[in-house]
Amino acid sequence: MDNKHLVNSLALLGFFQAARLSYSVAKSFIKYFVAPRRDLKSRYGGGWALVTGASDGLGRQYCFELAKSGLNIILMARNQEKLDKVAGEIRAEYPDVKTKTLVFNFSELHTEEQISALQKLLREVKEDVSVLVNNVGVLAVNHFDKHSIQDCMNSISVNVSTQTYVTHALLPVMLQRSSRCAIVNLSSRAALVMHPLFPVYSGTKAFNYSLSTALRNAYSDKIDVLTVTPASVKSGMNPGNGLFTVTPEMHGKYVIDHLGRYDDTWGHWHHAIAPYLEATPLLGHIILRIQT
Ligand SMILES: NC(=O)c1ccc[n+]([C@@H]2O[C@H](COP(=O)([O-])OP(=O)(O)OC[C@H]3O[C@@H](n4cnc5c(N)ncnc54)[C@H](OP(=O)(O)O)[C@@H]3O)[C@@H](O)[C@H]2O)c1
Repeated sequence: MDNKHLVNSLALLGFFQAARLSYSVAKSFIKYFVAPRRDLKSRYGGGWALVTGASDGLGRQYCFELAKSGLNIILMARNQEKLDKVAGEIRAEYPDVKTKTLVFNFSELHTEEQISALQKLLREVKEDVSVLVNNVGVLAVNHFDKHSIQDCMNSISVNVSTQTYVTHALLPVMLQRSSRCAIVNLSSRAALVMHPLFPVYSGTKAFNYSLSTALRNAYSDKIDVLTVTPASVKSGMNPGNGLFTVTPEMHGKYVIDHLGRYDDTWGHWHHAIAPYLEATPLLGHIILRIQT
């Protein structure tokens, strides 16, 4: 190849790379700053949104965002007092929205009897549910050799078994509803960047990601399945010291804005740009130094 051909080929390659990058930046800009929230109440035929881990953190914020869209809310966690408080706050802010609470300890999903107890509880509400938010999760921070068996069992029960069995209990009814339905699955950036101090957590979040993708591939004609992969959100689970940490309020708005429009979301746009900035030579190094 002579020099002229080489220069032309490299110019063409550069042009295609620049076009690809521009397209991807434009798509993200529309996703995070332009696309309006869908009318979720009419898209999902009214009905109720069931949110696991609803008494705190991200789950609590999803309840407020879904209530803002006019959906009634079923709040599920293990502490009745905390659930009642959040339910009361939702009704005070959105007087037309109804709430129900369900108390269940998701750490206890190891035996058939425990799974039956969950199914029995969900039987009370499952006809009503048009939106399921599989949010509950726990984080054990330690090297794997320092994890107790109890840490492992708890993480697997809350993060893996809960998503599996709650979805399994509600999906058949959702598929029979006349309107579309939705399932929001909380994974994490930890599913993609496996942190050495989050070994079991990263594994469970990878499970959440995979199950979510498989469900979308199977049921997208009837169900909007949204996979959420946040980085750092300040909450009971996370003291929030990261450079890109956002509040549950900042995060939750974007997740519900993306419901019914996209297959996956980071939540807040800070979390969408963080991986690119961290991968940039020198800048990535500076970010890493600031964060540690
Ligand atoms: N925060 C982050 O930076 C971050 C980042 C990526 C992904 N996520 C994911 O986001 C989801 C929510 O995390 P979060 O930060 O909001 O956590 P959080 O602030 O600790 O809140 C957890 C919620 O789950 C409930 N819960 C915990 N253990 C439970 C159990 N055994 N049975 C029933 N309910 C239980 C808690 O309720 P009670 O204790 O009141 O019962 C609370 O409502 C998780 O799936 C997590 O993996 C979080």
